[in-house]
Amino acid sequence: MPTMTFTIRRFVEAKSFSRDYSFEYMAGNTVLDGLIFIKEKLDPSLAFTASCRNGVCGACALRVNGQAVLACETAIESLAARYHSARLTIAPLGNFTVLRDLVVDWQPKLDRMKQVKPWLIPQDAFSADTGCRQSQTDFDKIRGYTDCILCGACVSECSKLAADSADFLEPFAFVKAQKYVADSRDDAPLKHLDPAIQAGLWRCMHCEECTAKCPKSLDPAEDIAKLRVMAFKKAMVNSAGAQHAQAFYEDINDIGRLNEAKLAIRTDGIMKSLTRVGLAYRLMKVDKLDPFHLPEPIKNISKVQKILKAAKEADKS
Ligand code: SF4
Ligand code: SF4
Ligand code: FES
Repeated sequence: MPTMTFTIRRFVEAKSFSRDYSFEYMAGNTVLDGLIFIKEKLDPSLAFTASCRNGVCGACALRVNGQAVLACETAIESLAARYHSARLTIAPLGNFTVLRDLVVDWQPKLDRMKQVKPWLIPQDAFSADTGCRQSQTDFDKIRGYTDCILCGACVSECSKLAADSADFLEPFAFVKAQKYVADSRDDAPLKHLDPAIQAGLWRCMHCEECTAKCPKSLDPAEDIAKLRVMAFKKAMVNSAGAQHAQAFYEDINDIGRLNEAKLAIRTDGIMKSLTRVGLAYRLMKVDKLDPFHLPEPIKNISKVQKILKAAKEADKS
């Protein structure tokens, strides 16, 4: 049987260190099987979380070679093949506080998620007797959202959370917000949308790591885009992010390319833009900005305008 070595990032009583554990594995053994073997046979002090062993509970998510995965669904042999290596680095999820070894603190994340009211606010028409019924078509629009198992893989690799988590919610919180905004039974979609805007909807960096890492094929990045579209539909555009998107759209519609000097003013307004005169001057000195350059419309701009018009019409239907 082949041998694998896990280099596990340990964290015990405020001390961080790495420890190697080697073991033999068979085809079909998962990363979780390896951790259980280590705990039972090599080192009972190793701490990790897992429950269902079947990709359902979300408890076993961790990082292998810096990438978030579900330990119970990830075969050791596939990792050995992917990395061409008989050694893997196992670490706790990123963007979480580590409690011990591979165990992270979920409570602050769950508390933050409550900001978007991740529960149904039923319409008055519903009652305990009638229940909250909806058509199959409406149910189909939201059924995929129930696949989120709160594993945290999307959190682990989020670029915005890594840069600053103070003004941005975890990607799964936006998934929950979109779930209830899209639910035909919900009476108050704005009660989910508004806190999502306040909690950083326009600060997402579009890295798509959340979508790439979700083991349940959910698409938090797309849900953020849907919430932004809804914010426009509800005229909730009083933020730099929304203004930036609107200015971006107008430039493309008008000339088919960006007018960068104008874009900054339309995004931040004249007063805030004035505070950046120093930066603009430095950019001008290195030929990165020319405020007097007025870009010409691209050739065939009318075709671009037709595409945008068609997209708008399609969105209405
Ligand atoms: S797309 Fe946005 S929410 Fe998703 S990981 Fe990147 S920064 Fe985070
Ligand atoms: S959205 Fe996907 S990656 Fe994020 S917590 Fe839910 S299941 Fe896990
Ligand atoms: S142990 Fe439940 S998802 Fe892995």
